[in-house]
Amino acid sequence: MSLDAVLSRIDTDLPAATDRLLDLLRIPSISTDPAFKDDCDTAADWLVDDLNSLGVRTEKRTTPGHPMVVGHIDGPGPHLLFYGHYDVQPVDPIDLWDNDPFDPRIEDTAKGPVIRGRGSSDDKGQLMTFIEACRAWKAVHGSLPCKLTFFLEGEEESGSPSLVPFMQAHADELKSDLALICDTGLFESKTPAIVTMLRGLLGEEITVTGPKIDLHSGMYGGIAMNPIRALSSVVAALHDDTGRVTVPGFYDGVPELPDAIEAQWQGLSFDHASFLGDVGLSTPAGEQDRTPLEMIWSRPTCEVNGIWGGYTGDGFKTVLPSAAHAKISFRLVGTQDPLAIRDNFRAMVRDMLPSDCEVTFSDHGASAASMTETDDPSFEAARQALSEEWQVPAAYVGCGGSIPIAGHFQSILGSTPMLIGFGKDDDALHSPNEKYDMESFHKGIRSWARILAALT
Ligand code: BES
Ligand code: ZN
Repeated sequence: MSLDAVLSRIDTDLPAATDRLLDLLRIPSISTDPAFKDDCDTAADWLVDDLNSLGVRTEKRTTPGHPMVVGHIDGPGPHLLFYGHYDVQPVDPIDLWDNDPFDPRIEDTAKGPVIRGRGSSDDKGQLMTFIEACRAWKAVHGSLPCKLTFFLEGEEESGSPSLVPFMQAHADELKSDLALICDTGLFESKTPAIVTMLRGLLGEEITVTGPKIDLHSGMYGGIAMNPIRALSSVVAALHDDTGRVTVPGFYDGVPELPDAIEAQWQGLSFDHASFLGDVGLSTPAGEQDRTPLEMIWSRPTCEVNGIWGGYTGDGFKTVLPSAAHAKISFRLVGTQDPLAIRDNFRAMVRDMLPSDCEVTFSDHGASAASMTETDDPSFEAARQALSEEWQVPAAYVGCGGSIPIAGHFQSILGSTPMLIGFGKDDDALHSPNEKYDMESFHKGIRSWARILAALT
């Protein structure tokens, strides 16, 4: 088996691979917004056709939400599953984009060429790295080196409501020796990484209501409770002066970092000054007694993702609003129980609200943290393959983001997840002007070819 021939094929096919990715990026598959439902369907169809053209028997599978794409191809050796998601985040605020988010383009920047557009990094560019590696392999060898299942989701960015029932209903079909997930990043831009710890996520939306209509703040201000004031007090009380979250029982199940992982992370010599400096900040704002890497990888957090109410249009209006709203999320670690935290958070908010305020909650998903042991020899094999491609030793790292399916692979299917991705910190995930470096795309494809060779 010649890996070199596959790598050369990847190099010569890069322009065509880029065109295919641009095609997929033109489909505005925003999963959270019902206005884009048909586009999610179109993206699923695009992937079904592309995988079928590689000889992967692929179908679009309906769910109560957006469809799953599932494909199988037989082969020798181990059975690997590949997971990625074809849905993308909304584009707001649209006026901060330099170009149409769904009219992607290749742009030359000081750091090299990038593919600019919504979903380029999260996660269409990433999922295509694996598909392109398979395409090159098939073109050179006529078949793939192992049995493969493709499992592509269209609801990841909106909390994966259909995922668990789908995995439970199709457990036998989706079980594999190893589940490869391409939805994470490199470590500090040039160092490849395998993620072994992911944080969980709990999302809560709060609406605090007060007077039954908006009021004149001259006529009622002083005697009437203002729901924005009540909500602000709650939000302000969610952290203490040392940066700890104050929800009762929040730290139950939060472990101290095992010595071995602490030593590994110290070896990474993370440059937090430049990590923060790149986004115009300078001071770590988490729990004061924790290192910067702990703050983003192994400690739980509470963030207010949005807060609104009253008059927010141009000009000024002296209103005492009837409602105030906030979207709040918690990143979870260890064995923190998302449902217990949800209950305790809701009780805390109810207890804190003054008379004349009512609160309603709506739930935006709850998933626990996950952790992968790396003692299976395939981890060392994949790490070697990555190190060869990037010419620096690949690192085992944590990830502050959440990819709930990693835990579901373990708990529902008994499959070990292996998280490898090629995104960079400056890709602007979920933000305006999202991009994926051409280097990530090209070396990402080459990395998967090397990993397939190493695992089979
Ligand atoms: N690809 C991201 C996860 C990620 C974030 C990886 C940052 C590497 C760095 C994933 O698509 C994502 O954004 N997940 C959401 C969770 C979801 C339930 C909305 C997240 O982490 O906020
Ligand atoms: Zn993603």
